[in-house]
Amino acid sequence: MVGTSVVAEGATSTDPRRTGSSSAVTLTVAAKETVAEGVVSLTLTHPNGGRLPDWTPGSHIDLILPDGTTRQYSLCGDRWDAHTYRVAVLREPAGRGGSAYVHDRLRPGDRVGVGGPRNNFPLVPSEKYLFIAGGIGITPLLPMVRQAELLATEWQLLYGGRTRASMAFREELAAAYGERVHIVPQDECGLLDLNAWLEGPNADTKVYCCGPAPLLAAVEQAAASWGPYGLRTERFTARTDQAEPLRATPFEVELRRSGRAVTVSPGVSVLEAVRGAGVDVLSSCEQGTCGTCLTPVVEGRPDHRDSILTDHQRAANDCMFVCVSRACGDRLVLDL
Ligand code: FES
Repeated sequence: MVGTSVVAEGATSTDPRRTGSSSAVTLTVAAKETVAEGVVSLTLTHPNGGRLPDWTPGSHIDLILPDGTTRQYSLCGDRWDAHTYRVAVLREPAGRGGSAYVHDRLRPGDRVGVGGPRNNFPLVPSEKYLFIAGGIGITPLLPMVRQAELLATEWQLLYGGRTRASMAFREELAAAYGERVHIVPQDECGLLDLNAWLEGPNADTKVYCCGPAPLLAAVEQAAASWGPYGLRTERFTARTDQAEPLRATPFEVELRRSGRAVTVSPGVSVLEAVRGAGVDVLSSCEQGTCGTCLTPVVEGRPDHRDSILTDHQRAANDCMFVCVSRACGDRLVLDL
């Protein structure tokens, strides 16, 4: 199993798994431009020209649109530019309407809410990196490529997409980095030859992959021998290969700080039950993908059902995403 995290359409500094700010601000859409077929980029600035919260490669923001919908998008701009955020949004005809709003209705000058940034997909130090992007999955990898370059670390980028025209930022990547960038449009070259790229474990190399679920599954399979720390992935959507919850019966959740206890029935999330007891927990995606609802666990063993934590992090039993995760036993104690 590999390191897993989510977002791209779309964590607080007290927890080592997540870094960033949880505050929400109102920003201005300073620019909107088409960067590939079906992809627009948004440049966001503070209305007063002020600094924006700092972020690190792999971070995402919550974009709170004027119609009230909230979506998560990876930051793909320059992390050293303290006054600008940049995201890229793929039009998703089968999506829930967020990308359609951005493409069809959002205009330069509009105000949007922005939560975060959070980072569930941090770039850890390594001798070498192999970045693998599928389509709009290039977005969290762009700042990683720049970071690796700044650190003079050896890296290569394998970038697949449906067609050349649909692959955002391909020209600037190729122009800036030359032969370290491998552009593989499927209609010209077929699928990425993952077995060739991931042949045999390489202890010096970390692989970072973001893209659609079939690509992630193929990369996980090809890198099965790389061990628990070799590969890190970020997903657009929640995993669909989850088993059924371990319990089909109610369990108790004690909220240690507020001195309350709630019963969580089958079909009700811990988040819903906790809120029903009058204790608020921040949430966003409510699918176990964005990281907003991370909650420290004091006692008990969670039945982790998120798409973020690695097996190693799950085994620590010290936190859970209460929008989707449940309990293995009769009782959990949460730091709420
Ligand atoms: S992980 Fe997004 S709200 Fe729980």
